[in-house]
Amino acid sequence: MCGIVGYVGDGQASDILVRSLKRLEYRGYDSAGVATCYQNRLFVEKDSGKIEEINNKLGLDTLPGHVGVAHTRWATHGAPTKVNAHPHTDCTNTIAVVHNGVLENFMQLKKELTDLNHTFVSKTDTEVIPHLVEEGLRAGESVEQAFLKALRKLEGSYALAMISTSEPDKLYAARKEAPLIIGVGKGFNMVASDITALLDMTQEMVFLHDRDMAVISKDSYRIIKIDTGEGVERPVKTVAISVETAEKQGHPHFMLKEIYEQPQTLRDSLRLQQQYLDLLAELLDKGRVIFLVGAGTSYNACLAGSYQLSQLARLPSFPVIASEFIPNYGSSLGADTVVLAVSQSGETADVLTALDFARMRACTILGLTNTVGSTLTRVARAYILQNSGPEIGVAATKTFTSQVLVLAQTALRLARLRGKIAQFEMDEFKTELLKIPRIVEEVLMKTSVKVKELAKALMSKPFIFILGRGISTSTAYEGRLKIMELSYIPCIAYPAGESKHGPISVIEESVPVVFVVPPDEYRKLNIGSIMEMKARGAYAVVLGDEADSELMELADFYIGLPKTHPLLTPITYAVPFQLIAYHLAVMKGYDPDKPRNLAKSVTVL
Ligand code: M6R
Repeated sequence: MCGIVGYVGDGQASDILVRSLKRLEYRGYDSAGVATCYQNRLFVEKDSGKIEEINNKLGLDTLPGHVGVAHTRWATHGAPTKVNAHPHTDCTNTIAVVHNGVLENFMQLKKELTDLNHTFVSKTDTEVIPHLVEEGLRAGESVEQAFLKALRKLEGSYALAMISTSEPDKLYAARKEAPLIIGVGKGFNMVASDITALLDMTQEMVFLHDRDMAVISKDSYRIIKIDTGEGVERPVKTVAISVETAEKQGHPHFMLKEIYEQPQTLRDSLRLQQQYLDLLAELLDKGRVIFLVGAGTSYNACLAGSYQLSQLARLPSFPVIASEFIPNYGSSLGADTVVLAVSQSGETADVLTALDFARMRACTILGLTNTVGSTLTRVARAYILQNSGPEIGVAATKTFTSQVLVLAQTALRLARLRGKIAQFEMDEFKTELLKIPRIVEEVLMKTSVKVKELAKALMSKPFIFILGRGISTSTAYEGRLKIMELSYIPCIAYPAGESKHGPISVIEESVPVVFVVPPDEYRKLNIGSIMEMKARGAYAVVLGDEADSELMELADFYIGLPKTHPLLTPITYAVPFQLIAYHLAVMKGYDPDKPRNLAKSVTVL
């Protein structure tokens, strides 16, 4: 997501910070800024746009002083504007903070601080932090005490760096569920969210642990546990890797990095802005006809979402491929129609064209996107952000699992609003939602060897057949898209029940058929389909529950996965498909980050 850097030392902070910020550009960002401290004054410059342009316009690298913080922003709360860009400051303009992460309780903190006469200028969650510290300073606390106290009030994820004119030779930093590293130098120390920002300056690094805070000056640093306030030692490690390897966090490709990031991105996608989720649920509830519209992977998420809306909230909806929306439904739209558009980029031309058309017919437009400030956020009456951070690989991976998770939360909210399911069912589903990041972590750990073996077995196959039933149809479709767009092996995917109506005729000796069989109400029927295919010579690959010995026995190749709620299986069962697709591409010598003929965002019709 956002990139943060801090510096304290003998050099000119702003110059070093801007160079480090440029090292973070690969992460994707919409705005940037720098704050320094000099002669008891804070200097802050920031804007939306590219670092080079902002620097040319505002002279970010000319700010005076030997201590400073800097930021590249990927918007999550508030549009990508100058005022929302970091660093953020307090009322007295003496404290500057940069932040990467999502604060869940910022609305409540903002209200409390506003009641105490603090003035806010941005729409960000981050801005509460300098004001919380200011509040502590007002009460006579030291900067360290005030910072620690503020951290203890924050719920959500953060990597933070802060400077204050009260202590112009110090840099404060802290982390919770977002990485933060101290770069140890001679005559300086730094802090950054990403080792790429430090590699130019030093290879000696200290990796802060979760809920660590650090007080850093040019010749020393102290680390303190946020929960207990006690000091702690963390080892200094020599990081001798190239910038290119560091950008991918040690993974050979961005796609693999993004697949492995999913436990964290899913955690962030559970931290939605509740008032927007409520609004989305209310507006969906008002519609007479509901469409879920998306393209590619986002369409597959719509398909999963339609099962969730129907089964949890008892709300039927039409999942529609964006380019087919006008031809199929254009003539039936009206003021009682709600269109929920799902688009990672928020810029897909097929989606925007469908929305334009729907808007002209007075439909209510809603959005789910990963990109603040995108066209979708401007045309939607209400939208929700999935908080997955920038995705560099062309293939959608972490953004798919987050889309499904956000749609599941929307369906649950709607179920509550409509009073359609029992309290215990809602509670159970909520518990399962919260477990998802950990289960995906488990999936990644448990399947890493098997997916490679399977990719080897599939590598020379002329085509692959994928089947799912119920919500697993969306998993099968997403598996098909991943494998096809990355390995260029033609794939077909069908709802399993449909295969006997034609597709089964392609089955002959050793044709690979991948079955998505979570332990849901369709398991028995799926076993029937596996038998059917095997009887015709198919090589049966089964993705099923890790404890399902019957399926294991039946399969020619089995990938066992941990249990979750059936409506959340598109998340957990999509992960092995992502990995299989990745390994197929690598084994075949293709670049998984840039599949041929494809663009990350398709802005043409
Ligand atoms: O930005 P969007 O979610 O609207 O993009 C939609 C599709 O172009 C996108 O999902 C595409 O299918 C990806 N290559 C899938 O990996």
